[in-house]
Amino acid sequence: MNPGNSGDAIRLTAVRKLYGKRDNQVVALEEVTTRFGRGTFTAIMGPSGSGKSTLLQCAAGLDQPTSGSVLLEEHELSELSETELTKLRRDRIGFVFQSFNLLPVLTVRQNVTLPLRLAGRKPDRDRVARILEQVGLAQRSNHRPAELSGGQQQRVAIARALISDPAVIFADEPTGALDTRTARDILGLLRHSSRAAGQTIVMVTHDPVAASYADRVLFLADGRLAGELHSPTAESVADRMTRLGAFADEGPRSQPVANRGGQR
Ligand SMILES: Nc1ncnc2c1ncn2[C@@H]1O[C@H](COP(=O)(O)OP(=O)(O)OP(=O)(O)O)[C@@H](O)[C@H]1O
Ligand SMILES: [Mg+2]
Repeated sequence: MNPGNSGDAIRLTAVRKLYGKRDNQVVALEEVTTRFGRGTFTAIMGPSGSGKSTLLQCAAGLDQPTSGSVLLEEHELSELSETELTKLRRDRIGFVFQSFNLLPVLTVRQNVTLPLRLAGRKPDRDRVARILEQVGLAQRSNHRPAELSGGQQQRVAIARALISDPAVIFADEPTGALDTRTARDILGLLRHSSRAAGQTIVMVTHDPVAASYADRVLFLADGRLAGELHSPTAESVADRMTRLGAFADEGPRSQPVANRGGQR
């Protein structure tokens, strides 16, 4: 139906990422080929060290693959200059880091509005207030990160990724520090961002319930894609994760089996 990529926000082709040299070399991603349709919500799951954060960082242009191609909104990232890449990231991408990456000297409000100010845009007061309200931090806008709990800091990082209304939002375990109820609110917000606002969401998570908010789950094992689930439920995800863990323990040769096993 679609010979081009106009329906895709992101397309990865044969993405490979090696870290380190020779004896210390780690293959973080191996031959990853996949696409993320515009306005879709995808969860990425897999054991610790399977390459999830690396995949997100390569897809967002924060890190460069060793080989392979990343197309983000029609831009081949490897062909962009550093300035073009910075501009693309600033204007089109929101990123929630696994480690939050908040600036300690800035208040909550200043952290959240930083992307706008870096882009030379004036933060709209009402919008800032609404986003802080949505993540439950309206009462904390003048606090600094050190005065916040881990979950509150995580929500500042989420608000900061949403503030510029980016076309693509990457979120690395955005609910890892949140209690069940707050996590549900944030996941609902992300789902709403894809369904109502047409934003493309790519979220790493270890939690099958969080993954069930997505339209699709991609599984990674040892840097390779190890299957996917559409319209996931917490049960189907947990089931797949259990088997993925078992297969991963048996070594790389068993992965193609994991790939085929029990598609819904
Ligand atoms: N900067 C780096 N230098 C060397 N090796 C790295 C670097 N970053 C990641 N790696 C290695 O690449 C592999 C994939 O790491 P990555 O952080 O992508 O895993 P992950 O799936 O996000 O894990 P987690 O669930 O623990 O966050 C790991 O083996 C890791 O040790
Ligand atoms: Mg990670």
